[in-house]
Amino acid sequence: MRVFTTTREIQQYLADLRNKGLSTGFVATMGALHQGHLSLIQQAKKDNDLVICSIFVNPTQFNDPADLEKYPRPIAHDTQMLEQAGCDILFNPEVSEMYADNEHWHLALGEIEHLLEGTFRPGHYQGVTQVVYKLFNILKPDTAYFGQKDYQQIMVIAKMVELLNLPVKLVMCPILREEDGLAMSSRNIHLTAEDRLHSLILSKTLNWVKDNFDSNNIAVLQAKAAEAINTEDGVSLEYFELVDGDTLHPANQSTKKVVALVAARVGKTRLIDNVLIG
Ligand code: PAF
Repeated sequence: MRVFTTTREIQQYLADLRNKGLSTGFVATMGALHQGHLSLIQQAKKDNDLVICSIFVNPTQFNDPADLEKYPRPIAHDTQMLEQAGCDILFNPEVSEMYADNEHWHLALGEIEHLLEGTFRPGHYQGVTQVVYKLFNILKPDTAYFGQKDYQQIMVIAKMVELLNLPVKLVMCPILREEDGLAMSSRNIHLTAEDRLHSLILSKTLNWVKDNFDSNNIAVLQAKAAEAINTEDGVSLEYFELVDGDTLHPANQSTKKVVALVAARVGKTRLIDNVLIG
């Protein structure tokens, strides 16, 4: 695997590969890799001649400085995992390589930015689009792969691609789960053993809602789901919503593509998860 830390070097390297007609698949990450990330790499490998992965803990998407500070950065282990997964190129820049001082970014993303995650993490999606735009611009991948776990993030990135006419295809890959149902996430390492047990209420409730969707009213499902999560020890619900998967507006009984989305604090760790229904 070739590792690059500067924009100039990776751009030169990729330009040569493009001239040879090779296709590239891209997986953007903030490191602390797990099997979920590796499943994106595997999909990218199936679809492309070469796979590029980026590891960059992007400061502009954190609204809590403490969260940014404690974000795990096991770069040696991550590099080894990428090697083993057959990733071809790693881009691992410093913050100073990605951002000039006092850089300003604002993209008119519309209401999608302010719903759900946007309510609890104001400014988060401006930071995400800022860095993903830069990465797309530097790496110019043919296809970029994102995990369904960050469902709203994919919708926001798709909106940016549409608004700015970016020449990249987006692919959403399914959530990978631990055997007991917990969605894989870099943040799971912050869960204590007790948190880990309590966290299972999220996937259990999502599955229960999916299984009972056809025979229940949406308001009832939402209320029961919220109650189940809120009564779990150590868990504090931020939202549990059944929405239209294309608009993120509240779903109704005739919505074709429903997504149940949840965010909660488990101990000190904020977790999100979702399930597609129908
Ligand atoms: O999903 C993530 O890990 C990040 O939001 C991303 C897409 C790598 C941008 O920093």
